[in-house]
Amino acid sequence: MLIYSFLEAYDWDGKTLVPFCTSGGSGFGRSLDKLPDSAPGAAILEGLHVSGSRVDGASEEVAA
Ligand SMILES: Cc1cc2nc3c(=O)[nH]c(=O)nc-3n(C[C@H](O)[C@H](O)[C@H](O)COP(=O)(O)O)c2cc1C
Repeated sequence: MLIYSFLEAYDWDGKTLVPFCTSGGSGFGRSLDKLPDSAPGAAILEGLHVSGSRVDGASEEVAA
């Protein structure tokens, strides 16, 4: 909810959003489904999920 509240506090028209998260393995789940409603006008890219156990070696993946 805090992410949705953050998004709803700003104007995203013409902006590009790249979602990212860490998790134990669940990934984004359904959390991306409502992003367009909270950030109207934004282009929302595929984004990146990194498992918590792989964070230490993920810098190249994040940079890419
Ligand atoms: C209370 C709590 C419950 C969590 N439950 C899950 C879960 O059910 N599934 C999952 O994929 N990640 C879950 N996570 C997230 C991962 O444990 C965590 O994001 C991941 O290991 C990366 O750690 P970091 O967010 O501290 O970088 C939970 C985290 C917390 C604090």
